[in-house]
Amino acid sequence: MDTPTILIIIGVTGDLSRRKLLPAIGDMAAAGVLPKRFRIVGITRQRAVTPSNILEGVRAAGYIREHLEVFPMSLEDAADYERLGAHLRTIAQLWDDAAQCLWYLAVPPTTAWPIIERLGNSGLARLPNTKLLLEKPFGIDRVSAEELVAHVERSFAAEQVYRIDHYLAKETVQNIVVFRQDNPLFERTWNRDAIERIDILASETIGIEGRAAFYEQTGALRDLVQSHLLQLAALTLMTLPPDRELGRIPEARRALLETLRVDPGSVGRGQYEDYRTEVANPASLVETFVSLTLFSSDPRWQDVPITLTTGKALSEKRTDIVVTYRRDGAPQQNRLTLRLQPNEGVELCFFAKRPGYDRTIERVPLAFTYADHFDALPDAYGRVLLDALCGDHTLFASSGEVLESWRIVDAVRKSWESGADTLIEYPRGASPEQVLRKNSRD
Ligand code: BG6
Repeated sequence: MDTPTILIIIGVTGDLSRRKLLPAIGDMAAAGVLPKRFRIVGITRQRAVTPSNILEGVRAAGYIREHLEVFPMSLEDAADYERLGAHLRTIAQLWDDAAQCLWYLAVPPTTAWPIIERLGNSGLARLPNTKLLLEKPFGIDRVSAEELVAHVERSFAAEQVYRIDHYLAKETVQNIVVFRQDNPLFERTWNRDAIERIDILASETIGIEGRAAFYEQTGALRDLVQSHLLQLAALTLMTLPPDRELGRIPEARRALLETLRVDPGSVGRGQYEDYRTEVANPASLVETFVSLTLFSSDPRWQDVPITLTTGKALSEKRTDIVVTYRRDGAPQQNRLTLRLQPNEGVELCFFAKRPGYDRTIERVPLAFTYADHFDALPDAYGRVLLDALCGDHTLFASSGEVLESWRIVDAVRKSWESGADTLIEYPRGASPEQVLRKNSRD
């Protein structure tokens, strides 16, 4: 990829930009995957900010220092968008070649909404080779997500838009497709005949980390299930596109999401014990833990429960997909674990005869870890940026996927509104299993 590129980061002084984007760009430069002609234009409202201020404490700042410039402007003023447009043209003219512009909106959704409109009105959205990268959340329910899709598409064509779900860009998540596609041993038995259940867990030790206002409007269901966990379910269960056509994966994920229904009796939710004090809302009913079971109408997965569980302030940071195989007359079950983070790897539990005179059978692991075989895993944000640079939509969420996942989440929220289940309190540091047990007792 050597198209001259201008990356415009709106919100360059923010946490996402400093913690994730700029270091990822540094890593990409070190890996030699950035175009030779590359400029970062950092947009901020603050007049006095310099690149050095922004790069204070940022990892891999050397390359970025040479390629970053700060462009202070008002995000409300049409004249400032014109000024910016002229500036981008000046950069492109220096290169004497058609440049692409990537707009990265590293700002909250309420700020992003008017910016998208102004990019449209100013004509900047329709300049040739222009792309828009958006961060979640994409709405707060299906209706608002539909409005957001329509709003964006008034300014940008659908193929210009890249909706980031950083889970899709994690190495281990990309590996789900490779694991299935390139290991026929597993893909041949990847169905209801062999598989009894699938459990997807994203457990976190951190709490809400000061994001009280955001989390009070969001909760675990919207924050993690609507996006990351449903995407993991889709990748695990989807029908692989024929002829390894990776470009058709977003459509395959959407088609699978369309088959999913929540089992209404399966939903459990919890809140960690000092959450209400943290958000200064003694009556908060926002869940920091949620677990629910889905069923797919795809005949391949008929009657196979797919359970998604996530929570904050739990005993460990762990994201994994556990596939439990049918017993088929054997006394115990084989289990395959795709460990997405940490200790990334794959583990298969099978059974062996313990050496000795009696016939004792013991569960033993067959394990692969990335650390033993490969160098450090690249950060997901580097992948996100590289794929957007190259115009590859495979690892981004399409509008169809976003709307389908909101359909599922809306159904759960509706059942909560009718008071069909209760919110339980759990102590910080509880394991997911402990919270689930508490849920089934209360
Ligand atoms: C984000 C959520 O999308 O994902 C956060 O908003 C969560 O609440 C984070 O902590 C988890 O990401 P990771 O990559 O650390 O598992």
